[in-house]
Amino acid sequence: MRLAIFASGNGTNFEALAQAAEAKTIDAKISFLFCDKKTAYALKRAEKYDIPIYAFSPKEFNSKQEYETELLELLVREQIDLILLAGYMRIIGDTLLTAFPKRIINIHPALLPAFPGIHGIKDAFEAKVRVTGVTIHYVDSGVDTGPIIAQEKVRIGAKDTLESLEEKIHQVEHKMYPKVVAELVKEIKS
Ligand code: GAR
Repeated sequence: MRLAIFASGNGTNFEALAQAAEAKTIDAKISFLFCDKKTAYALKRAEKYDIPIYAFSPKEFNSKQEYETELLELLVREQIDLILLAGYMRIIGDTLLTAFPKRIINIHPALLPAFPGIHGIKDAFEAKVRVTGVTIHYVDSGVDTGPIIAQEKVRIGAKDTLESLEEKIHQVEHKMYPKVVAELVKEIKS
């Protein structure tokens, strides 16, 4: 089983997945990390794990379709079975969705369908809800929509700041994503 991870930024979730694959908790190979930003810190993290990296931006192409076709060629060449989005801040288009039905997974830092988008933690904090969390789901053509695979709640205490909440959410993400992916890999193999 071969996995590709897509990220746009810091890459802490990528690193949690890389550690789990190295420890064989996830019984699959991370074939490569793809970033849509050449400056993404995730690319640096990949060096530690000897994971090949690819980075190109949609801006280098005439259309989203051309960009995704390039990505698709890479995914086919690398014989990828499952794509994991880990802070990949772009909507997946038809080219990839059609080629990988139920094989693209995303993690989102809120209890979807609440607080989709790029500021899930901040939006929940500012809305003053008492409980938020983390969602892992199959990707469809929407923004953080698609069938939910797993959710975990995180309480927002009276003393929480945005920073402490971010910390709590990330801690949950880093445990939850590798665990859910390990189960999915088993399920796909069986
Ligand atoms: C994570 O919190 C992830 O859930 C979120 O981006 C962050 C990436 O952090 N994704 C979304 O908001 C998707 N809409 P990381 O780069 O350190 O893994």
